[in-house]
Amino acid sequence: MNEDILARNGSIALRRLSNDDSDIQLLYQWLSDPKVTAHVYAEGVPWTYEKVCAAFGRKVLAADSVTACLILRNDQAVGYLQFYPVRRDSYLCSADLIKKLRGAYGVDMFIGVPSLWRKGLGSAALRALEDCLRSRGAGKLCADPAADNEPGLRFWPKAGFEPLEVIEDYDDPSKQAILMMKQL
Ligand SMILES: CC(C)(COP(=O)(O)OP(=O)(O)OC[C@H]1O[C@@H](n2cnc3c(N)ncnc32)[C@H](O)[C@@H]1OP(=O)(O)O)[C@@H](O)C(=O)NCCC(=O)NCCS
Repeated sequence: MNEDILARNGSIALRRLSNDDSDIQLLYQWLSDPKVTAHVYAEGVPWTYEKVCAAFGRKVLAADSVTACLILRNDQAVGYLQFYPVRRDSYLCSADLIKKLRGAYGVDMFIGVPSLWRKGLGSAALRALEDCLRSRGAGKLCADPAADNEPGLRFWPKAGFEPLEVIEDYDDPSKQAILMMKQL
C-alpha cells in the first residue's frame, strides 16, 4: 500500500500532500477561484504560487503538527483536508473550552472544484478521516466554520457535529466562527 495514502472510503482516498510542484499548483489553481475563497482561505487572496508554498509546504504544516492531505476521487485530486491534534493555541477560545476538547482532532477541508460540490465527496472524505482517527484512538473531532460560511454551517451538523460555542475566527479575528464537535 502507498504509505502516503492515509485513509480510504470507496472511491475516495486521503493522500498526504507532497511538496511536489503538481500538488502546490493544484492548490494554487483551487485558491485562485473566487467561488472557493468566498468560503475558505480568504485571508490569502490574491493567492500567488509563492504564498501557497509558504502556507501549505509540508514542513510548514508539520511544524504545527498539521497533517495535510489531498482528497482523491478515483485517484484524481478534488480537494484539500488537514487535521491536527487540538492544542491550547488551535482555536481562539477560553482555556476551559480547550479543556473540554482534550484528545480531540481539528479538521478543515474544502472541495476545490465548485462543480463537484454537493455530490457527497466532502461527506465521504470526512468518513474516511473519522475511521482513520478512530483507529488511532481519537475520541472527538472538531470543526470551526466561519459564522458567515453557509455551506460549512450546514455541512458539519449534517455530518453529526454539534455547535459548542461562538469563538473568534482563527484566520480573521474580526470575524466569528462556530466551534463544533463530534464524538467519534
Ligand atoms: C462544504 C463542503 C466541504 C461540503 O462538501 P460537499 O461534498 O460539497 O458536501 P456533501 O455533498 O457531502 O454534502 C453533505 C451535506 O452537507 C450539506 N451541504 C453541503 N454543502 C451545502 C451547501 N452549499 N448548502 C447547503 N447545504 C450544504 C447538505 O446537508 C448536504 O447534504 P444533501 O446534499 O443531501 O442536502 C464543500 O461544499 C466545500 O468545500 N465548499 C466550499 C468551501 C467550504 O465552505 N468548505 C468548508 C469550510 S468549513
